[in-house]
Amino acid sequence: MLIDTHCHLDFKDFDPDREEVLKRARQAGVGIIINAASSLEGSIRSVELAENHDFIYAAVGIHPHESPSSDEKAFARLKSLARSKKVVAVGEVGLDYYRQTVPGVTQKEVFRKFIGLSKELSLPLIIHDRDAHADMLAILKQEFKSGKADGVMHCFSGDAAFLRQCLELGLFISFTCNLTFKNAANLRAVAREVPLDRILLETDAPFLAPQAHRGKRNEPAYITFLAQELSNIHSLTAEDIGRLTTHNANKLFRLNLMENAAIAYEIRDSLYLNITNRCTNDCDFCVRSSTDFVKGHNLKLEKEPSLEEILAAVRNPDKYKEIVFCGYGEPTLRLDVLKETACALKKKAKTIRLVTNGHGNLINKRPIAGELAGLIDKVSVSLNMDSAAKYNKRCKPGFGGRTFEEIKRFIAQCKAAGIETEATCLDLPETNLKKCRAIIENELGVKFRLRRYNVVG
Ligand code: NI
Repeated sequence: MLIDTHCHLDFKDFDPDREEVLKRARQAGVGIIINAASSLEGSIRSVELAENHDFIYAAVGIHPHESPSSDEKAFARLKSLARSKKVVAVGEVGLDYYRQTVPGVTQKEVFRKFIGLSKELSLPLIIHDRDAHADMLAILKQEFKSGKADGVMHCFSGDAAFLRQCLELGLFISFTCNLTFKNAANLRAVAREVPLDRILLETDAPFLAPQAHRGKRNEPAYITFLAQELSNIHSLTAEDIGRLTTHNANKLFRLNLMENAAIAYEIRDSLYLNITNRCTNDCDFCVRSSTDFVKGHNLKLEKEPSLEEILAAVRNPDKYKEIVFCGYGEPTLRLDVLKETACALKKKAKTIRLVTNGHGNLINKRPIAGELAGLIDKVSVSLNMDSAAKYNKRCKPGFGGRTFEEIKRFIAQCKAAGIETEATCLDLPETNLKKCRAIIENELGVKFRLRRYNVVG
């Protein structure tokens, strides 16, 4: 499912065929549309649209070009409109110095009032910023004393430096279909720098139709072009982009979409199996301490799945390049289920890989590599560091100081058992990469792979 987090379906452009446009959006996989308002009248129409369609939500606000109309009366009216359950944001509001139609002082004063309204209503901001970066950042920093703003920088048009400041302020970043324009190489370079847990999709229809329809009226169905473009930029599939941007939109706009815990989940052309959340390490860099989500998948299990539940969740094992026992918890804590699952999938799966912290021998109180051979094709062991001291400090292993040496022993045993084995090292500041590589390649004789510490999946 895709969410178009910003469009203007209330505009006259859609009067002739609005219902047809909505139908095409649904057919293209757009599950939710957030209609952004540009004026008081637009806010009224936006709420009307949302009240009449299950899958449309509304934002109320006044575009900076219209700021002179933002008087006391207008604010009172917007506040009462926001009582609708379908109103999920204040926007679009902000600063626009591109066309000097309204003086900057007026725009700034009105924008501050809208920030006040968003706080009062506990609704996120949909922020419009054009050629006003410095004033925009100054106002956000003053108005959000904690340093964290609640909102999205819509139709992002800044450079990498502006992006960094927006990210520091905690803002989400949304791109429109102009990302697909032939001459948008700079914008694509900026889009590559946006963390995947901060990106949103929007069309801003009727404006900014994608390259394939350039110059024509844009519409929510065309958001698929944007998802495709972002998937190329981030080396993911369009489905991955859809899922993770939907998760982000759900979070920012408090849409209360159910996101059930995944036992089996896809990323790119791999299928990951989430069989436990328990782990025998307590790494201070572990993603589990900050989020239940990996690439938009909820991995927080309510209970550990049985063999039957895992196999039911897999459905078509032959569809994937590989099936991976994922490392959100330590799979060898459930060695029997792990082996039974691998055994059941063996015939159909192309490759079965185990991602592990390498504590399997300690956990099961016996060498387990021989039991995995023939069931597991590949194993990726997180050695993480280049010394036991560093490992103990950052990973706090439940088995104590001997753990690092035991992991190395496990790696060597996997190799000896004929399993294709790799060991991974984390690019933490204190890591001595050269030393880590020497341990893995020379001492243990297996493949070395570097992992970025904040990238999972
Ligand atoms: Ni807009």
